[in-house]
Amino acid sequence: MFSKKLLDAMNEQMKNEFASAYLYLAMAGYFQSEELPGIANWMRVQALEELTHGEKFFHFICDANGRTDVRAIEAPQNSYKSPLDCFKAGLKHENFVTASINNLVDLARKDGNHATEIFLQWFVTEQVEEEANFSLIVKKLERIGNDGNGLLRLDEELAQRVFVPPATTAA
Ligand code: FEO
Repeated sequence: MFSKKLLDAMNEQMKNEFASAYLYLAMAGYFQSEELPGIANWMRVQALEELTHGEKFFHFICDANGRTDVRAIEAPQNSYKSPLDCFKAGLKHENFVTASINNLVDLARKDGNHATEIFLQWFVTEQVEEEANFSLIVKKLERIGNDGNGLLRLDEELAQRVFVPPATTAA
């Protein structure tokens, strides 16, 4: 069902999703070290969501009779110059993931692989939300600048984020 090229790209995207979890966990550690536990919480929830994204790829590849190939993940960046620097890096990473998903859609379309194309639509929509989430916090941090109280208010706000497990990780 999968062409060799598409299967390779699907496995690579599965890695990208798990690598995203690893990256956001590293970012959570950075915020924890900066004594901003609310922002660290937001990043940990983000990391958990990325794990569910990786699992979605795993399930779909299996269901569609593809062979999974779990690949090595490089160590992510653990330290940042500032909260703004960190969220900008997160936004840049999400831009990369969006481009990668769009490339997968193009490959699936070229192959006439309708099932994979439909599976990927969830990720196309999800990426709009992912980029919007990071972009909004980048803007807030730019507005906060050197205002310590503003940063503490953002920390309180981001402490509210809760991980909601999906009903199923299957597509
Ligand atoms: Fe699953 Fe944030 O990309």
